[in-house]
Amino acid sequence: MNESTFQNAVPRQAYVRQRYPRRYPARAPYETLTDPDPDAPPLDVDPAVDPEASLIELYGADGIGPTGRPMPNFPAPPAPERHGPAKIIAMCNQKGGVGKTTSAINLGAAIAEYGWHVLLVDFDPQGALSVGLGVNPMELELTVYNLLMQSGVTVDDVLLKTSIPGLDLLPSNIDLSAAEVQLVNEVAREQTLARALRPVVSDYDFIIIDCQPSLGLLTVNALTAAHSVIVPLECEYFALRGVALLMETIDKVQERLNPELELEGILATMYDARTVHCREVLQRVVEAFGDEVFHTVIGRTVRFPETTVAGEPITTYASNSVGAAAYRQLAREVLARCPVA
Ligand SMILES: Nc1ncnc2c1ncn2[C@@H]1O[C@H](COP(=O)(O)OP(=O)(O)OP(=O)(O)O)[C@@H](O)[C@H]1O
Ligand SMILES: [Mg+2]
Repeated sequence: MNESTFQNAVPRQAYVRQRYPRRYPARAPYETLTDPDPDAPPLDVDPAVDPEASLIELYGADGIGPTGRPMPNFPAPPAPERHGPAKIIAMCNQKGGVGKTTSAINLGAAIAEYGWHVLLVDFDPQGALSVGLGVNPMELELTVYNLLMQSGVTVDDVLLKTSIPGLDLLPSNIDLSAAEVQLVNEVAREQTLARALRPVVSDYDFIIIDCQPSLGLLTVNALTAAHSVIVPLECEYFALRGVALLMETIDKVQERLNPELELEGILATMYDARTVHCREVLQRVVEAFGDEVFHTVIGRTVRFPETTVAGEPITTYASNSVGAAAYRQLAREVLARCPVA
């Protein structure tokens, strides 16, 4: 590497920081965290009796939410009289196991409970979203893969109704991993999903795309199809690693492929208010991203892994749990942030 190449590298970083100061805080937010607290109490307690009351217990009754900001009241939205066109939201983080799929299922189910029409798109070859809604991905004849790669296949051919009224699913399985390779040779390869979804945009109020944990071509397709991105972040030590890269990807897609794309919000997941560590991580996330962070925070509870086994959202599996209350609150917050015209 000659000297001029090296010199070029530094101004590029400075340029990116200057251009997106909020997204690239000067100090990496995780640098000053203390190590996880070894004496922390067990994490699997679910104090739910009255879920709304336990949310207050979780957040404190002083009106200050877990993010350290005053907690607004998000009223239950009226069900729309007419449906569509849909707001398309990608659930995205290249870090694995942060709660993307859990959030897609439960946010979708909670919005549908309020009477809105929601389509969930499983865009991960692992098929976790399909499994989480009780579908066996290996038994499917047609999946999102066929929708993307075969011109005669329509959304209706692939679509499955779930047991939740108003909540539909486009399922996936391992076949989708082939699409990542095959799409490379297609014309307008980044727009393939957007094109496939276009015929049904007017039927739904929300389309939520569950991305796989990578920033590859499938994720770029999801970002190109979406109006906005929700980034779930697990409240733990390395949560913010890689977020700068994710934001850079979002910015690139916005500049080159999809000018409408915006950040819907950062969603803190697997939060445990009893550990200093969790509280510190959340504080750093809010320092770094300010009002981009949702007021709603999803607590850690074993109820979520249980719902995957049960194959249904927490809003029906444990309707009175804190987890269900949290996702209903998130639904109200999302609906308040982006009222559908
Ligand atoms: N709030 C929570 N509390 C406890 N466990 C949770 C919570 N949210 C998700 N989980 C569990 O954590 C695991 C990972 O969650 P999930 O599958 O939603 O993450 P993901 O980001 O979609 O993962 P991947 O990157 O592999 O797609 C699952 O077993 C899920 O049940
Ligand atoms: Mg997932």
